[in-house]
Amino acid sequence: MIFRTHHRLVLLALLVCMPIAGVQPVPAQQAPLPAQRAKVVAEAEEDYTLYCAACHGDQGRGDGELASILVKPPSDLAGINERHGGFPFWTIYAMIAGEEAVPGHDTFQMPHYAERMKADEEKPGFYPAHIRILLLTHYLESLQPE
Ligand code: HEC
Repeated sequence: MIFRTHHRLVLLALLVCMPIAGVQPVPAQQAPLPAQRAKVVAEAEEDYTLYCAACHGDQGRGDGELASILVKPPSDLAGINERHGGFPFWTIYAMIAGEEAVPGHDTFQMPHYAERMKADEEKPGFYPAHIRILLLTHYLESLQPE
């Protein structure tokens, strides 16, 4: 009995002290810091506008100029979190890199921009393709509602 009471007291003390000591469950993913994110996202803006906005729209809503003539409507890229139950960062990276097929869509609808980015690597002033894909992935992540 003494042990039990003691046990409960320890538990109680722990519970009381937890917030004070700042012991909190570690979040699965750290929330992005706005200033740092803004810098990264700004780097991807040009590529997004050039390569993606025609179909996916300026805000990623799937309402670009070409949307109406496509057989399959472009995804609402601001709805990735909702559709996937969170942001599957490396799956999205692989989709942009053309390493992961986007279900139900063919190469005509979502051409492999990664290949163009790879070709750009030869030219001066271009980031390596994987950096541009990484930046674009962060860009898409930034489009998700908080
Ligand atoms: C020619 C039109 C077109 C262009 C340009 C285009 N996409 Fe797509 N994209 C689509 C279509 C259509 C789908 C939806 C396919 C489906 O629903 O099966 C799609 C789907 C996606 C998805 C999957 C979203 C999800 O929730 O699974 C991602 C990610 C994506 N596009 C990113 C991009 C990025 C980044 C660019 C620019 C580098 C880009 N797309 C350029 C047509 C396009």
